[in-house]
Amino acid sequence: MRDFKTILVTGGAGFIGSNLIRYLLSDKSGFTGRIVNLDALTYAGNPDSLADIDKRLGGKRYFFLKADICDRKAVEKAFTDYAIDAVCHLAAESHVDRSILGPEAFIRTNVMGTFTLLDVARIAWKDRSDVLFHHVSTDEVFGSLGDSGFFTETTPYDPRSPYSASKASSDHLVMAYHHTYHLPVTLTNCSNNYGPYQFPEKLVPVMILNMIEDKPLPVYGDGKNIRDWLYVEDHNSAVWTVMQNGVLGQTYNIGGENEWENIKLLDRLIDLVAEESGKSSASLRSLITYVKDRPGHDRRYAIDCSKLKTELGWRQSVTFDEGLRKTVRWYLDNSGWINRVRSGEYRTWMDVNYTQR
Ligand code: NAD
Ligand code: TYD
Repeated sequence: MRDFKTILVTGGAGFIGSNLIRYLLSDKSGFTGRIVNLDALTYAGNPDSLADIDKRLGGKRYFFLKADICDRKAVEKAFTDYAIDAVCHLAAESHVDRSILGPEAFIRTNVMGTFTLLDVARIAWKDRSDVLFHHVSTDEVFGSLGDSGFFTETTPYDPRSPYSASKASSDHLVMAYHHTYHLPVTLTNCSNNYGPYQFPEKLVPVMILNMIEDKPLPVYGDGKNIRDWLYVEDHNSAVWTVMQNGVLGQTYNIGGENEWENIKLLDRLIDLVAEESGKSSASLRSLITYVKDRPGHDRRYAIDCSKLKTELGWRQSVTFDEGLRKTVRWYLDNSGWINRVRSGEYRTWMDVNYTQR
Protein backbone atom coordinates (compact mmCIF):
# COMPACT_ATOMS: atom_id res chain seq x y z
CA MET A 1 0.00 0.00 0.00
CA ARG A 2 1.36 3.42 -0.96
CA ASP A 3 1.79 6.09 1.69
CA PHE A 4 2.43 9.77 1.11
CA LYS A 5 3.87 12.56 3.20
CA THR A 6 2.46 15.59 1.37
CA ILE A 7 -0.35 15.46 -1.18
CA LEU A 8 -0.91 18.40 -3.51
CA VAL A 9 -4.67 18.56 -4.08
CA THR A 10 -5.57 20.85 -6.98
CA GLY A 11 -9.06 22.34 -7.01
CA GLY A 12 -9.43 21.69 -3.30
CA ALA A 13 -11.73 24.68 -2.82
CA GLY A 14 -14.31 23.18 -5.18
CA PHE A 15 -17.07 20.68 -4.52
CA ILE A 16 -15.30 17.32 -4.71
CA GLY A 17 -11.88 18.70 -3.70
CA SER A 18 -13.11 20.27 -0.46
CA ASN A 19 -14.94 17.06 0.44
CA LEU A 20 -11.79 15.06 -0.44
CA ILE A 21 -9.60 17.18 1.83
CA ARG A 22 -12.14 16.87 4.65
CA TYR A 23 -12.15 13.09 4.10
CA LEU A 24 -8.35 12.72 3.92
CA LEU A 25 -7.86 14.76 7.08
CA SER A 26 -10.47 12.73 8.98
CA ASP A 27 -9.90 9.45 10.82
CA LYS A 28 -11.79 7.61 8.05
CA SER A 29 -8.87 7.74 5.58
CA GLY A 30 -5.96 6.70 7.80
CA PHE A 31 -3.82 9.35 6.05
CA THR A 32 -1.44 11.03 8.51
CA GLY A 33 0.48 13.41 6.24
CA ARG A 34 -0.07 16.97 4.99
CA ILE A 35 -2.35 18.43 2.34
CA VAL A 36 -1.45 21.40 0.16
CA ASN A 37 -4.57 22.78 -1.52
CA LEU A 38 -3.70 24.67 -4.71
CA ASP A 39 -6.72 26.47 -6.14
CA ALA A 40 -7.21 29.60 -8.26
CA LEU A 41 -10.53 30.37 -6.53
CA THR A 42 -12.56 30.79 -9.70
CA TYR A 43 -16.31 31.35 -9.34
CA ALA A 44 -16.56 27.65 -8.32
CA GLY A 45 -13.95 27.76 -5.57
CA ASN A 46 -14.80 28.91 -2.08
CA PRO A 47 -12.31 28.93 0.82
CA ASP A 48 -15.31 28.94 3.21
CA SER A 49 -15.82 25.29 2.31
CA LEU A 50 -12.73 24.45 4.37
CA ALA A 51 -12.78 27.27 6.97
CA ASP A 52 -13.10 24.82 9.88
CA ILE A 53 -10.22 22.67 8.57
CA ASP A 54 -8.07 25.76 8.10
CA LYS A 55 -8.79 26.88 11.65
CA ARG A 56 -7.97 23.48 13.15
CA LEU A 57 -5.10 22.29 10.96
CA GLY A 58 -3.95 25.34 8.96
CA GLY A 59 -0.12 25.63 8.97
CA LYS A 60 0.16 22.15 10.49
CA ARG A 61 -1.41 19.53 8.24
CA TYR A 62 -3.32 21.86 5.88
CA PHE A 63 -1.89 24.59 3.62
CA PHE A 64 -3.74 26.73 1.09
CA LEU A 65 -2.09 28.26 -2.00
CA LYS A 66 -4.10 30.57 -4.22
CA ALA A 67 -2.59 29.77 -7.63
CA ASP A 68 -3.52 28.83 -11.17
CA ILE A 69 -2.50 25.36 -12.41
CA CYS A 70 -1.48 27.00 -15.71
CA ASP A 71 1.08 29.11 -13.83
CA ARG A 72 4.18 26.93 -14.17
CA LYS A 73 6.34 28.92 -11.74
CA ALA A 74 3.68 28.78 -9.02
CA VAL A 75 3.27 25.01 -9.48
CA GLU A 76 7.05 24.47 -9.43
CA LYS A 77 7.31 26.53 -6.25
CA ALA A 78 4.59 24.43 -4.59
CA PHE A 79 6.51 21.24 -5.44
CA THR A 80 9.75 22.65 -4.02
CA ASP A 81 8.41 24.45 -0.97
CA TYR A 82 6.33 21.53 0.25
CA ALA A 83 8.29 18.49 -1.00
CA ILE A 84 5.20 17.13 -2.73
CA ASP A 85 5.19 13.34 -3.15
CA ALA A 86 1.66 12.90 -4.54
CA VAL A 87 -0.75 14.94 -6.63
CA CYS A 88 -4.49 14.47 -6.63
CA HIS A 89 -5.60 16.58 -9.56
CA LEU A 90 -9.17 17.85 -9.48
CA ALA A 91 -8.85 21.50 -10.59
CA ALA A 92 -11.00 21.97 -13.64
CA GLU A 93 -13.75 23.89 -15.31
CA SER A 94 -16.50 21.40 -14.61
CA HIS A 95 -19.91 22.51 -15.88
CA VAL A 96 -21.19 21.29 -19.27
CA ASP A 97 -23.56 24.25 -19.83
CA ARG A 98 -20.75 26.73 -19.29
CA SER A 99 -18.52 24.77 -21.68
CA ILE A 100 -21.18 25.15 -24.39
CA LEU A 101 -21.39 28.90 -23.85
CA GLY A 102 -17.63 29.49 -23.43
CA PRO A 103 -15.32 26.57 -24.21
CA GLU A 104 -12.01 28.45 -24.07
CA ALA A 105 -11.60 28.40 -20.29
CA PHE A 106 -12.11 24.61 -20.43
CA ILE A 107 -9.29 24.12 -22.91
CA ARG A 108 -7.02 26.40 -20.91
CA THR A 109 -7.54 24.88 -17.47
CA ASN A 110 -8.40 21.29 -18.27
CA VAL A 111 -5.89 20.75 -21.07
CA MET A 112 -3.09 23.29 -20.57
CA GLY A 113 -3.40 23.20 -16.78
CA THR A 114 -3.17 19.42 -16.68
CA PHE A 115 -0.20 19.52 -19.05
CA THR A 116 1.56 22.07 -16.82
CA LEU A 117 1.07 19.96 -13.70
CA LEU A 118 2.24 16.81 -15.45
CA ASP A 119 5.32 18.48 -16.82
CA VAL A 120 6.31 20.01 -13.49
CA ALA A 121 5.79 16.61 -11.81
CA ARG A 122 7.88 14.87 -14.49
CA ILE A 123 10.84 17.15 -13.86
CA ALA A 124 10.49 17.46 -10.07
CA TRP A 125 10.13 13.68 -9.64
CA LYS A 126 12.68 12.52 -12.21
CA ASP A 127 13.35 8.80 -11.71
CA ARG A 128 11.41 8.60 -8.44
CA SER A 129 9.07 5.65 -8.01
CA ASP A 130 7.74 6.55 -4.52
CA VAL A 131 5.46 9.28 -5.94
CA LEU A 132 2.05 9.38 -7.62
CA PHE A 133 0.06 11.61 -9.95
CA HIS A 134 -3.62 10.77 -9.59
CA HIS A 135 -6.00 12.30 -12.11
CA VAL A 136 -9.69 12.70 -11.30
CA SER A 137 -11.84 12.47 -14.41
CA THR A 138 -15.38 11.86 -15.53
CA ASP A 139 -17.46 9.15 -17.21
CA GLU A 140 -18.53 11.80 -19.75
CA VAL A 141 -15.36 11.05 -21.75
CA PHE A 142 -17.08 7.84 -22.94
CA GLY A 143 -19.94 9.67 -24.66
CA SER A 144 -23.60 8.72 -24.41
CA LEU A 145 -25.27 5.32 -23.97
CA GLY A 146 -28.53 4.01 -25.39
CA ASP A 147 -31.05 2.13 -23.28
CA SER A 148 -28.65 -0.66 -22.38
CA GLY A 149 -24.97 -1.21 -21.67
CA PHE A 150 -22.41 0.30 -19.33
CA PHE A 151 -19.13 2.21 -19.59
CA THR A 152 -16.15 0.01 -18.71
CA GLU A 153 -12.47 0.90 -18.55
CA THR A 154 -12.08 -0.31 -22.14
CA THR A 155 -14.98 1.65 -23.64
CA PRO A 156 -13.55 3.84 -26.44
CA TYR A 157 -13.48 7.56 -25.70
CA ASP A 158 -16.22 9.50 -27.49
CA PRO A 159 -16.57 12.91 -25.80
CA ARG A 160 -19.40 15.07 -27.10
CA SER A 161 -19.31 18.37 -25.21
CA PRO A 162 -16.43 20.86 -24.94
CA TYR A 163 -16.23 19.88 -21.25
CA SER A 164 -15.94 16.15 -21.89
CA ALA A 165 -13.57 16.71 -24.83
CA SER A 166 -11.27 18.77 -22.61
CA LYS A 167 -11.38 16.10 -19.89
CA ALA A 168 -10.72 13.35 -22.46
CA SER A 169 -7.74 15.31 -23.67
CA SER A 170 -6.39 15.62 -20.12
CA ASP A 171 -6.84 11.87 -19.57
CA HIS A 172 -4.82 11.14 -22.72
CA LEU A 173 -2.04 13.48 -21.57
CA VAL A 174 -1.87 11.71 -18.19
CA MET A 175 -1.54 8.31 -19.87
CA ALA A 176 0.96 9.67 -22.40
CA TYR A 177 3.17 10.92 -19.54
CA HIS A 178 3.04 7.46 -18.01
CA HIS A 179 3.92 5.63 -21.21
CA THR A 180 6.51 8.10 -22.47
CA TYR A 181 8.21 9.32 -19.29
CA HIS A 182 7.21 6.53 -16.85
CA LEU A 183 5.49 9.07 -14.59
CA PRO A 184 3.69 6.99 -11.93
CA VAL A 185 0.01 7.74 -12.56
CA THR A 186 -3.44 6.43 -11.73
CA LEU A 187 -6.69 7.71 -13.20
CA THR A 188 -10.34 7.47 -12.21
CA ASN A 189 -13.48 8.17 -14.27
CA CYS A 190 -16.47 8.82 -12.06
CA SER A 191 -20.19 9.27 -12.59
CA ASN A 192 -22.28 12.24 -11.34
CA ASN A 193 -21.57 13.28 -7.77
CA TYR A 194 -23.92 14.98 -5.33
CA GLY A 195 -23.51 16.13 -1.75
CA PRO A 196 -22.64 19.17 0.40
CA TYR A 197 -20.65 22.12 -0.98
CA GLN A 198 -21.70 21.52 -4.60
CA PHE A 199 -21.88 24.73 -6.56
CA PRO A 200 -25.52 25.61 -7.36
CA GLU A 201 -25.29 25.25 -11.13
CA LYS A 202 -25.46 21.43 -11.16
CA LEU A 203 -28.78 19.57 -11.10
CA VAL A 204 -29.15 18.60 -7.43
CA PRO A 205 -28.23 21.93 -5.76
CA VAL A 206 -30.06 23.97 -8.43
CA MET A 207 -33.23 22.05 -7.68
CA ILE A 208 -32.87 22.15 -3.89
CA LEU A 209 -32.19 25.90 -3.81
CA ASN A 210 -34.98 26.71 -6.25
CA MET A 211 -37.37 24.69 -4.08
CA ILE A 212 -36.25 26.57 -0.97
CA GLU A 213 -36.94 29.85 -2.81
CA ASP A 214 -40.13 28.71 -4.59
CA LYS A 215 -38.55 29.29 -8.00
CA PRO A 216 -39.23 27.26 -11.17
CA LEU A 217 -37.45 23.87 -11.36
CA PRO A 218 -35.92 23.84 -14.87
CA VAL A 219 -36.00 20.37 -16.45
CA TYR A 220 -34.06 20.17 -19.72
CA GLY A 221 -35.80 18.49 -22.68
CA ASP A 222 -38.14 15.63 -21.77
CA GLY A 223 -36.50 15.01 -18.37
CA LYS A 224 -35.70 11.43 -19.31
CA ASN A 225 -31.93 11.73 -19.56
CA ILE A 226 -30.28 9.27 -17.21
CA ARG A 227 -27.34 9.79 -14.88
CA ASP A 228 -25.68 7.39 -12.40
CA TRP A 229 -25.48 9.18 -9.03
CA LEU A 230 -22.82 8.74 -6.34
CA TYR A 231 -22.50 10.46 -2.96
CA VAL A 232 -19.35 12.59 -2.97
CA GLU A 233 -17.75 10.88 0.04
CA ASP A 234 -18.05 7.52 -1.72
CA HIS A 235 -16.27 9.04 -4.74
CA ASN A 236 -13.51 10.27 -2.47
CA SER A 237 -13.08 6.95 -0.66
CA ALA A 238 -12.70 5.36 -4.12
CA VAL A 239 -10.10 7.93 -5.20
CA TRP A 240 -8.13 7.30 -2.02
CA THR A 241 -8.39 3.53 -2.49
CA VAL A 242 -6.95 3.87 -6.00
CA MET A 243 -4.21 6.26 -4.85
CA GLN A 244 -3.11 3.74 -2.25
CA ASN A 245 -3.56 0.45 -4.10
CA GLY A 246 -4.34 1.07 -7.77
CA VAL A 247 -2.00 -0.39 -10.38
CA LEU A 248 0.20 2.30 -11.94
CA GLY A 249 -0.81 3.29 -15.45
CA GLN A 250 -4.34 1.94 -15.02
CA THR A 251 -7.75 3.59 -15.02
CA TYR A 252 -10.64 2.69 -12.72
CA ASN A 253 -14.29 3.50 -13.21
CA ILE A 254 -16.20 4.76 -10.17
CA GLY A 255 -20.00 4.76 -10.07
CA GLY A 256 -23.04 4.57 -7.88
CA GLU A 257 -24.76 1.70 -9.70
CA ASN A 258 -27.66 4.06 -9.19
CA GLU A 259 -29.31 5.20 -12.43
CA TRP A 260 -32.11 7.76 -12.38
CA GLU A 261 -34.04 9.64 -15.02
CA ASN A 262 -33.73 13.34 -14.14
CA ILE A 263 -37.49 13.71 -13.69
CA LYS A 264 -37.66 10.72 -11.33
CA LEU A 265 -34.75 12.03 -9.31
CA LEU A 266 -36.53 15.37 -9.07
CA ASP A 267 -39.71 13.66 -7.90
CA ARG A 268 -37.79 11.96 -5.05
CA LEU A 269 -35.96 15.19 -4.19
CA ILE A 270 -39.24 17.08 -3.95
CA ASP A 271 -40.53 14.63 -1.32
CA LEU A 272 -37.31 14.92 0.68
CA VAL A 273 -37.26 18.72 0.57
CA ALA A 274 -40.92 18.75 1.60
CA GLU A 275 -40.20 16.45 4.55
CA GLU A 276 -37.13 18.37 5.70
CA SER A 277 -38.46 21.91 5.16
CA GLY A 278 -42.16 21.52 5.96
CA LYS A 279 -43.17 22.82 2.49
CA SER A 280 -46.01 21.09 0.65
CA SER A 281 -44.81 18.60 -1.93
CA ALA A 282 -47.78 19.46 -4.18
CA SER A 283 -46.76 23.11 -4.34
CA LEU A 284 -43.12 22.13 -4.97
CA ARG A 285 -44.23 19.82 -7.79
CA SER A 286 -46.13 22.70 -9.40
CA LEU A 287 -42.75 24.46 -9.85
CA ILE A 288 -41.51 21.85 -12.37
CA THR A 289 -40.89 23.66 -15.66
CA TYR A 290 -39.76 21.95 -18.85
CA VAL A 291 -37.22 24.18 -20.62
CA LYS A 292 -35.29 24.12 -23.88
CA ASP A 293 -32.91 21.16 -24.04
CA ARG A 294 -29.14 21.45 -23.65
CA PRO A 295 -27.49 21.26 -27.12
CA GLY A 296 -25.93 17.82 -27.66
CA HIS A 297 -27.42 16.60 -24.36
CA ASP A 298 -25.99 13.13 -23.61
CA ARG A 299 -28.88 10.71 -23.06
CA ARG A 300 -27.56 8.17 -20.62
CA TYR A 301 -24.46 7.55 -18.50
CA ALA A 302 -24.00 4.30 -16.58
CA ILE A 303 -20.82 2.99 -15.03
CA ASP A 304 -19.61 -0.56 -14.61
CA CYS A 305 -17.32 -0.26 -11.57
CA SER A 306 -16.73 -3.99 -11.07
CA LYS A 307 -12.95 -3.62 -11.64
CA LEU A 308 -12.67 -1.28 -8.65
CA LYS A 309 -14.88 -3.52 -6.54
CA THR A 310 -13.27 -6.86 -7.33
CA GLU A 311 -9.63 -5.76 -7.63
CA LEU A 312 -9.46 -3.15 -4.87
CA GLY A 313 -12.41 -4.06 -2.65
CA TRP A 314 -14.11 -0.64 -2.75
CA ARG A 315 -17.83 -0.35 -2.02
CA GLN A 316 -20.38 2.47 -2.01
CA SER A 317 -21.47 3.15 1.59
CA VAL A 318 -24.27 5.72 1.33
CA THR A 319 -27.69 4.86 -0.11
CA PHE A 320 -29.30 7.38 -2.46
CA ASP A 321 -32.03 8.27 0.02
CA GLU A 322 -29.54 8.79 2.87
CA GLY A 323 -27.22 10.84 0.68
CA LEU A 324 -29.97 13.00 -0.81
CA ARG A 325 -31.49 13.64 2.63
CA LYS A 326 -28.08 14.65 4.06
CA THR A 327 -27.57 16.93 1.06
CA VAL A 328 -30.99 18.58 1.43
CA ARG A 329 -30.36 19.13 5.16
CA TRP A 330 -26.94 20.63 4.42
CA TYR A 331 -28.36 23.20 1.97
CA LEU A 332 -31.17 24.07 4.39
CA ASP A 333 -28.63 24.64 7.18
CA ASN A 334 -25.94 26.53 5.26
CA SER A 335 -27.44 29.73 3.88
CA GLY A 336 -24.22 31.65 4.64
CA TRP A 337 -22.20 29.45 2.26
CA ILE A 338 -24.95 29.65 -0.36
CA ASN A 339 -25.13 33.46 -0.23
CA ARG A 340 -21.38 33.71 -0.54
CA VAL A 341 -21.09 31.52 -3.65
CA ARG A 342 -24.11 33.09 -5.28
CA SER A 343 -22.74 36.62 -5.15
CA GLY A 344 -20.45 38.20 -7.74
CA GLU A 345 -19.56 36.50 -10.99
CA TYR A 346 -21.99 33.62 -10.53
CA ARG A 347 -24.95 35.98 -10.17
CA THR A 348 -24.00 37.85 -13.31
CA TRP A 349 -23.49 34.67 -15.34
CA MET A 350 -26.78 33.17 -14.24
CA ASP A 351 -28.64 36.39 -14.99
CA VAL A 352 -27.17 36.68 -18.47
CA ASN A 353 -27.56 33.04 -19.45
CA TYR A 354 -30.54 31.69 -17.61
CA THR A 355 -33.17 34.38 -17.28
CA GLN A 356 -34.51 33.56 -20.75
CA ARG A 357 -35.05 29.85 -20.02
P1 NAD B 1 -15.88 22.40 -9.13
O1 NAD B 1 -16.21 23.23 -10.33
O2 NAD B 1 -16.81 22.39 -7.97
O3 NAD B 1 -14.44 22.82 -8.57
C1 NAD B 1 -13.36 23.07 -9.40
C2 NAD B 1 -12.27 23.75 -8.57
O4 NAD B 1 -11.13 23.96 -9.43
C3 NAD B 1 -12.68 25.11 -8.02
O5 NAD B 1 -12.28 25.22 -6.66
C4 NAD B 1 -11.90 26.09 -8.88
O6 NAD B 1 -11.56 27.30 -8.19
C5 NAD B 1 -10.67 25.28 -9.23
N1 NAD B 1 -10.03 25.73 -10.48
C6 NAD B 1 -10.64 25.95 -11.69
N2 NAD B 1 -9.74 26.39 -12.59
C7 NAD B 1 -8.52 26.41 -11.95
C8 NAD B 1 -7.20 26.74 -12.35
N3 NAD B 1 -6.92 27.15 -13.59
N4 NAD B 1 -6.21 26.63 -11.43
C9 NAD B 1 -6.47 26.22 -10.17
N5 NAD B 1 -7.69 25.92 -9.72
C10 NAD B 1 -8.72 26.00 -10.60
O7 NAD B 1 -15.65 20.93 -9.69
P2 NAD B 1 -15.99 19.51 -9.01
O8 NAD B 1 -17.39 19.15 -9.32
O9 NAD B 1 -15.49 19.54 -7.61
O10 NAD B 1 -15.06 18.55 -9.89
C11 NAD B 1 -13.72 18.30 -9.51
C12 NAD B 1 -13.09 17.36 -10.52
O11 NAD B 1 -13.83 16.15 -10.58
C13 NAD B 1 -13.08 17.90 -11.95
O12 NAD B 1 -11.85 17.56 -12.53
C14 NAD B 1 -14.23 17.19 -12.64
O13 NAD B 1 -13.98 17.03 -14.01
C15 NAD B 1 -14.22 15.86 -11.91
N6 NAD B 1 -15.51 15.16 -11.84
C16 NAD B 1 -16.62 15.79 -11.36
C17 NAD B 1 -17.83 15.09 -11.25
C18 NAD B 1 -19.07 15.76 -10.70
O14 NAD B 1 -20.15 15.14 -10.70
N7 NAD B 1 -19.00 16.97 -10.18
C19 NAD B 1 -17.89 13.75 -11.65
C20 NAD B 1 -16.73 13.13 -12.13
C21 NAD B 1 -15.54 13.84 -12.21
P1 TYD C 1 -25.50 18.42 -14.49
O1 TYD C 1 -25.69 18.46 -13.00
O2 TYD C 1 -25.18 19.68 -15.20
O3 TYD C 1 -24.41 17.28 -14.76
P2 TYD C 1 -23.91 16.62 -16.18
O4 TYD C 1 -24.45 17.39 -17.30
O5 TYD C 1 -22.43 16.79 -16.07
O6 TYD C 1 -24.38 15.22 -16.13
O7 TYD C 1 -26.81 17.81 -15.14
C1 TYD C 1 -27.30 16.54 -14.77
C2 TYD C 1 -28.53 16.23 -15.63
O8 TYD C 1 -29.58 17.14 -15.27
C3 TYD C 1 -28.28 16.45 -17.10
O9 TYD C 1 -29.03 15.47 -17.83
C4 TYD C 1 -28.84 17.85 -17.37
C5 TYD C 1 -29.99 17.95 -16.39
N1 TYD C 1 -30.28 19.29 -15.83
C6 TYD C 1 -31.59 19.76 -15.85
O10 TYD C 1 -32.52 19.11 -16.36
N2 TYD C 1 -31.85 20.99 -15.30
C7 TYD C 1 -30.86 21.75 -14.73
O11 TYD C 1 -31.14 22.89 -14.26
C8 TYD C 1 -29.52 21.23 -14.72
C9 TYD C 1 -28.41 22.05 -14.12
C10 TYD C 1 -29.28 19.99 -15.28
